[in-house]
This record gives sequence, structure tokens and C-alpha cells, in this order.
Amino acid sequence: MAKPAVLVVDDEPDLCELLSITLQRMDLSPRTANNIGDAQRLLKTEQFNLCLTDMQLPDGDGLELVEWIQQYSPSVPVAVITAHGNMEIAVRALKLGAFDFVSKPLDLAGLRKLVATAIKLSGTIDSDTSVFGPRLLGTSSAMQQMRDMIARVARSQAPVHISGESGTGKELVAKLIHESGPRRDGPFVPVNCGAIPTELMESELFGHKRGSFTGAVSDKKGLIQSAEGGTLFLDEIADLPLHMQVKLLRVIQEKAVRPVGEQLEVGVDVRVLSATHKDLSQLVAEGKFREDLFYRVNVIELRVPALRERPEDVPELAEAILRRLGRRMKLTPPMLAKDALAALETYAFPGNVRELENILERAITLSTSGEVRAGDIQLRTTPGGPPATANSSNAGPLGDHLEDIERDAILKALEQTRHNKTAAAKLLGMSFRALRYRIKKLGIE
Ligand SMILES: Nc1ncnc2c1ncn2[C@@H]1O[C@H](COP(=O)(O)OP(=O)(O)OP(=O)(O)O)[C@@H](O)[C@H]1O
Ligand SMILES: [Mg+2]
Repeated sequence: MAKPAVLVVDDEPDLCELLSITLQRMDLSPRTANNIGDAQRLLKTEQFNLCLTDMQLPDGDGLELVEWIQQYSPSVPVAVITAHGNMEIAVRALKLGAFDFVSKPLDLAGLRKLVATAIKLSGTIDSDTSVFGPRLLGTSSAMQQMRDMIARVARSQAPVHISGESGTGKELVAKLIHESGPRRDGPFVPVNCGAIPTELMESELFGHKRGSFTGAVSDKKGLIQSAEGGTLFLDEIADLPLHMQVKLLRVIQEKAVRPVGEQLEVGVDVRVLSATHKDLSQLVAEGKFREDLFYRVNVIELRVPALRERPEDVPELAEAILRRLGRRMKLTPPMLAKDALAALETYAFPGNVRELENILERAITLSTSGEVRAGDIQLRTTPGGPPATANSSNAGPLGDHLEDIERDAILKALEQTRHNKTAAAKLLGMSFRALRYRIKKLGIE
């Protein structure tokens, strides 16, 4: 097994050397960075079990690095080295997520203990399932905004509707809203509205009284009440039949439910989140979804962007997925070869992150070298059609069609903004980088 790796961030060569020697004697593998920028680069490309950072660095403050790590490498425990007696800084670092601190001049015995604890800690935290459960990965500006939004809406009690294509992470977003808010100790109850047979739906959602219909042998609490004190996540809400929509409206407006066969309503305290990959406003226009309910569930709308709108997230997602699959299959996480990554980065992912998961799972099974290569990756050309390997062209009918739509949208946005790419990106709701990337890929200009 490889030695646990420790990243030392300090601009004083003497201290770097002292720390490196100490760590080597503990049978660890030290790496050093002299500034925040280098440290971030290393954290992005290599795996570390611990990061030890000094406070004053040439390009900023150690606290910035602590914060950055919480967001982008949360699996890496970070400890700070503070000037002797500067408790104020130490406390700030702890609040920002550092797990401990050491003061200068360094007490090597104390430092060894800290390092030993950290190494244990890093074994228990998964990078994509931190102590708070799964995380939303991705460094694209769209995903950063999404994380900000999640934190913001988590504090409020307003209903949130999460839209986005299938497999984009809508359920994950709903879970994170629940877990980042004051209801986190309460239950999170996902309900797939499309999966419950219509005739059972009312009793499943609202519960029933014993004897209220054949088969109702005892009182049964409904899913809505079982979310008491927590969050009710109505997944595929577009599939809710109209008569259930009326009943749901009452739940949201009156904060009460009436179980089947019961005379009285009972108050419930749940926060309602919902999601669908369908276009709800379109369904409203077609009379398939009640407008009043639409306005109730859609108080705040979060749109999870498709993966093809943020290709820069693909490498991080792919690596995290490979790590997770590796753990599950008890393999050393397979590496992703450059040609494989390149193939993934230009693929349109009609099935989004879930499709990426499936592609990689299949690729691991096919790969024989401990490395996933382009030849191991099978990308769809037509929906349901035979898979093609990444080496062959992936511009099948669906790919072509999507590309045409995209090309048109991009051209229109560019026209509207007189070829100002920053403005066009904003108009299209994608990051500047993503737009530049799509322009190149689609051969516009
Ligand atoms: N940003 C992300 N970071 C990490 N994992 C992600 C991310 N987005 C999606 N996933 C993973 O992708 C898979 C699909 O996500 P999820 O089930 O939340 O999608 P969905 O939008 O609800 O899909 P569907 O429309 O098919 O129900 C899950 O395993 C989820 O953990
Ligand atoms: Mg879902």
C-alpha cells in the first residue's frame, strides 16, 4: 500500500525541510508547496491524507486555503500552523473547517500526535460522501452557484422546485437542501409520484383509518405525515394525477392532511421540495398541471444544468465515480486515461451524471489494465441503439439533433449580444468557459 501523503504548505524552506524529515520518519510521504496556488494545484491532481498549512503565505492567508479545501477537497483534513499564542487565528481556522492547529515554534511530539490523528481521520471520510453524506461535485460556475443556492434556500422554509434533465442530480440537490437546513435532524422522505399506482396514491400519501376500505386492516400513517418535522420530496411531481394535485394544494396551503376515512384534518409540519424532468409550465399550459399548485410548489426554482452545459465538471465527476466504484468493487480506483477523458469531455450525455456513472461502471468491467481507456468506453449514438465505442463518431441522429439545437441557440445568443461571449454565456445560463468550449466543439466561427 502507498504511504499516506501529507501536503506541507509553507514558504520557509527551513520549516518545510524540518516537517518533511519528521513526516518521513513517521513513514509518511511529504510533498511541499510554497504558496496557496501551488497547494491548490497539487490538491486537485494528487491524493492527500493531510494538509498542514502555515498562515502567512506569499499569495494569501492560510485561512483561505482552509476554506478552499472545505469546498473542493473536503476529504482532506487540514491543520494550520499558527504563530505562538495566536488563539484568535486558530479559532477562526477551526470554525472554517480546520480540524486542528499547531503553534510555532513547533513541538514535534505534539505535531506527531496531530498527524497520526489526521491520518486516521482521512481514512474514515470519503471524498464524495463526507460526514454530511454525498456531496455535489463540480467546479463549474454553474455548480458553484448551485451550492450557494442550496445553502441559501436551505435556511428558508419556502417550497423549492428543482428542474433539470434526467440524471442531472435533482434528488441529490433535494437531499442537500434538507441536510443543510434546520430540518436536517428530521426525516427526508422521497416520494416518487410516478411510481405509486393511482388507486393507492391517496392512502399512501395521506394515510388511512382502519376499516376505511377493504384491506385497511389498521390505521396507517401516510408518507406526508411520516415527513413530520422534516422534508417531503415529491419526485416526478408532474406525474401526480389532477385529483391528487387538489389535495396536495391543501397540504401546502393549510399545512394539514386528512387521512382516508378520517373526519378531521391533522396539522403537519413539513417542508415541500419537488422535482421533475418535464416542463411544468408547459404542462400548466396544456391543462395537465394545476396552475395554483404550480405557483405553490415553484416559489423558488432551481434548475440543475445538463452535464453537456458544464463539460469542465466531467473530470472531477469521473474521478469521484471511479473512486466510489473502486471502493465498492474493492479495487484500487482505476485511472482514467487521457484519451478516455477526452472522449467523455466531448460527449453530449443525454442521460447526464447518471449516464456517466453507468458508462464508467461498464468501462471498469471491460478494462483489463487498471486504467480506463477510450476503447473501454462505450457511448450511445442513438437512444436505445447499439453502443459505439468512443473511437467511432458519436454524432448519431440524437447527437446531431442536439447539436443543431445548441448551435442555433448559441448563434442566436451571440447575435443578440453582438458577439459578446460573456453576455451570450449569461443569456444561455452557462459559464463563459462552457460556452467557449461549445463554440469550439460545434465549429462555430
Ligand atoms: N454534482 C454531482 N456530484 C456528485 N454526484 C452527482 C452529481 N450530480 C448527480 N450525481 C449522481 O448522479 C446520480 C443521479 O443523480 P440523481 O438521482 O440526483 O438525478 P435526478 O436528476 O434525480 O435523475 P432522474 O431524473 O433520473 O430521477 C446519483 O448517483 C447522484 O449521486
Ligand atoms: Mg430523480
